[in-house]
Amino acid sequence: MKKLVVLTGAGMSAESGISTFRDSNGLWENHRVEDVASPEGWYKDMEMVLDFYNQRRAQLIDCTPNAGHQLLAELEADFDVQIVTQNVDNLHERAGSSNVLHLHGELMKARSTGSGGEVYDITHSQPIIKKGDLCPKGFQLRPHIVWFGEAVPEIENAIRIVQRAEILVIIGTSLKVYPAASLMNYAPQGCLIYLIDPNEISNLPSSITVIRKGASEGILELKTKYLKQ
Ligand code: OAD
Repeated sequence: MKKLVVLTGAGMSAESGISTFRDSNGLWENHRVEDVASPEGWYKDMEMVLDFYNQRRAQLIDCTPNAGHQLLAELEADFDVQIVTQNVDNLHERAGSSNVLHLHGELMKARSTGSGGEVYDITHSQPIIKKGDLCPKGFQLRPHIVWFGEAVPEIENAIRIVQRAEILVIIGTSLKVYPAASLMNYAPQGCLIYLIDPNEISNLPSSITVIRKGASEGILELKTKYLKQ
């Protein structure tokens, strides 16, 4: 089976009701991104940051995968599919995709603030982290999210995945946040690259086939028009 790598961003989950980042004046659910997605914001007001992600988690539990997530999962019947997502939701997994690498962390996980940085699952029945919630070694738990200014530990794995792609599909990302935005540059010679986004993405290499549609419609077009076996 051909190796099909999919890079997804916030636009992938927009049709499930999760808002994108850069379409709302730089605010993320009415918060300044630097207040809720940076180590500085965490040290300034830990309880506000914990509460913000508790709300995001509650919202996620109420959301369902959209038709685009489902179509990507179905592609596993014909392709060796690997998804690399910037999204912290679990909608790809809930749609049935088997290979999902999360570049920017996962909402449904907590991480120790101790030096080990151990990661723990958060259950749907108790989807909150509170001040005073500690890891077994006694360190405060924090959301397992890569904040601005922090290292992206999965980037090397993501690069290796893209380097083996025979087909690369980029969906719903403004390609403004690095290093994620540079991943497509690692696609090997001869790799077919498709980009699905309803809005114009500037400075794209001319070799990329652009499908200017929302995720569900765009993936359906990709499947029926470009990926016919
Ligand atoms: P952005 O909000 O920057 O970009 C979202 C993209 O989705 C835009 O290009 C929109 O045009 C597109 N879009 C909107 N609706 C869509 C739809 N229905 N179908 C497909 N595409 C649609 O989000 P990202 O590029 O994912 O980081 O942002 C990258 C990172 O910045 C995020 O992972 C997050 C943020 O800060 C962290 O949380 C660490």
